[in-house]
Amino acid sequence: MKLAFWKKKSGGAAGQVDFGHLPRHVAIILDGNGRWAKRRGLPRTAGHKVGAETFRTIATYCRDIGLDYLTVYAFSTENWKRPAEEVDTIMDLLKKYMLEAIDTMERDNVRLRFVGDLSVLSDELKELAARCDAISAKLTGCQCNICLNYGGRAEIVHAAREFAKDCTAGRVKPEDLTEKSFEGYLYTAGVPSPELLIRPGGEQRLSNFLLWQCAYAEFYYTDVLWPDFTVEELHRAFAAYQRRDRRFGGVKQ
Ligand code: IPE
Ligand code: IPE
Ligand code: MG
Repeated sequence: MKLAFWKKKSGGAAGQVDFGHLPRHVAIILDGNGRWAKRRGLPRTAGHKVGAETFRTIATYCRDIGLDYLTVYAFSTENWKRPAEEVDTIMDLLKKYMLEAIDTMERDNVRLRFVGDLSVLSDELKELAARCDAISAKLTGCQCNICLNYGGRAEIVHAAREFAKDCTAGRVKPEDLTEKSFEGYLYTAGVPSPELLIRPGGEQRLSNFLLWQCAYAEFYYTDVLWPDFTVEELHRAFAAYQRRDRRFGGVKQ
């Protein structure tokens, strides 16, 4: 019933999308906030504020269409290189988002999980992330993974270290390690790999996002900057995904 509602709402673009065959897991690199602001003569931080609103809109829509997982790249391990004022604004926006989420996620049935090395975040942010986790544990709706101080390489090194610790403690043997069991050591343990990766902002690179998990993801790039990203653009990404021929190294039957 919900699907019919959204199909009706989304007009022409929805015609190209088969809502019965959506990806289960969509990953998005939230890029282009700074350029969006610059084009308007605004400070970069203004782009991050509007980008946060866009995230709310897209996450809500993903829940409405029944997506199981949405994973977004919000702050990378490399983004600490940015001016302190910009980093502070992004952390403030995250705090605001977490506080709002704590009040609304139960009503909205959206599960939130913060993915990455959270140990370096402020105690306040860590505490808010833990509260979001605790509420999420009681919910069943779309799981929204927000990658924060996340780096794909750091994640793989962390996983390797955790595995090595298990070996040293005698809990496992090196020869026991498989691709499947290694996934259990990643920050994203328990989450299936994304079928579709979207990057707004015009760049065609991974920028250290989900290196392991995107081994067979379909990439969709668009010049649209993240603050301008819309449900219609998401539909274009779904339509492109549905036209792809996913072979996983095999041949088309
Ligand atoms: C993405 O937008 C947000 C973060 C990396 C935190 P950018 O800030 O990278 O925007 P551009 O790429 O400079 O336009
Ligand atoms: C990737 O965007 C990180 C996030 C969106 C959080 P960047 O803007 O940091 O990536 P580069 O610098 O263009 O590779
Ligand atoms: Mg960028």
